[in-house]
Amino acid sequence: MSYDVPTVSRTEPTRDSRLYIRNLVKRDPLTGLADDVRKGLSAQPKRFLPKYFYDELGSQLFEAICLLPEYYLTRAENEILQRYSDDIVAALDGQKTLVEMGSGSASKTRLIIEALLRIQPELLFMPVDISATALESSSRILLQSYPQLRIEAYAADYFAGLAELGKKPRARTLALFLGSNISNFDLEEALRFLRAMRSVLQKGDALLLGADLKKDPAVLEAAYNDALGVTSAFNLNVLARINRELGGTFDLHAFRHRAFYSETMGRIEIYIESLANQQVRIEKLDLTVDFAEGELIHTENSYKYDKAGIERLAADTGFKLARTWLDSQERFSSNLLLAN
Ligand code: AVJ
Repeated sequence: MSYDVPTVSRTEPTRDSRLYIRNLVKRDPLTGLADDVRKGLSAQPKRFLPKYFYDELGSQLFEAICLLPEYYLTRAENEILQRYSDDIVAALDGQKTLVEMGSGSASKTRLIIEALLRIQPELLFMPVDISATALESSSRILLQSYPQLRIEAYAADYFAGLAELGKKPRARTLALFLGSNISNFDLEEALRFLRAMRSVLQKGDALLLGADLKKDPAVLEAAYNDALGVTSAFNLNVLARINRELGGTFDLHAFRHRAFYSETMGRIEIYIESLANQQVRIEKLDLTVDFAEGELIHTENSYKYDKAGIERLAADTGFKLARTWLDSQERFSSNLLLAN
């Protein structure tokens, strides 16, 4: 889907009275990355955290993934929101505030914003995203489209963002966690996230949770092994980012992207494979790392759900699964979790 939006200059200062952006990402953004890369490359097996995919280039590569023919998730969720946004917002009473965790480009959010503005005269939108640049550009574009909108945005990881939201008294709240962003969490992390989310909501508030569904492994694997190689670029960009920000010497040609579905774990597992026995130096960490040919760095999991799994998650975290909407091909689910 595309929208007619004016392009916004990156250098234009933030001087809109309807926009407030707070940056809670660690003051020295390198310390988080540096510590986590040192830990991850010293672990056995080696691993990185998925949040480090999303530097400026990585965030844009993810936007490109969402346009790929194989990556059905975004289009399926869009179809659901196009069709049911009025029903979704009608499930909550009163004047609503919209919260979104991991808002990214916020293009799907527009469908919910428009549904809300059909039933109320103005709206406060509170997005949380790890990428300050994505937050800033998406906020400006939204404000230009909707004069009735105000934005209080937080550049933060999920838990820091939720801690901040917890301090603000809010009207009836609809929170969004779209795009199957929950899929990066294992069960324990998903429970921890949903409990933290629940603790900033009142009874009667709700969370709209987008979750990709279990299906034919061939369909799942194609979505993470696209023919153009965009997912490969997204994955290997973590190595490029370490080269850029930490003085690494990764030769990107000596590694490759791997992704496959584990039926037993119910998840796509994503790795970077070393194509040779090699040594990599990371100057700013004063670290030299050995890789064996065929050795894998685990970069991401993408958990797939079924209705029973989502019901359990809701029940264990102070929510009730009130409704589930599916796209016409039943590949993706949008779940309304009511706080009780
Ligand atoms: C942003 C976590 C939902 O798991 O589908 C897409 C990330 N990684 N292709 C997903 C991703 C590779 C995506 N989530």
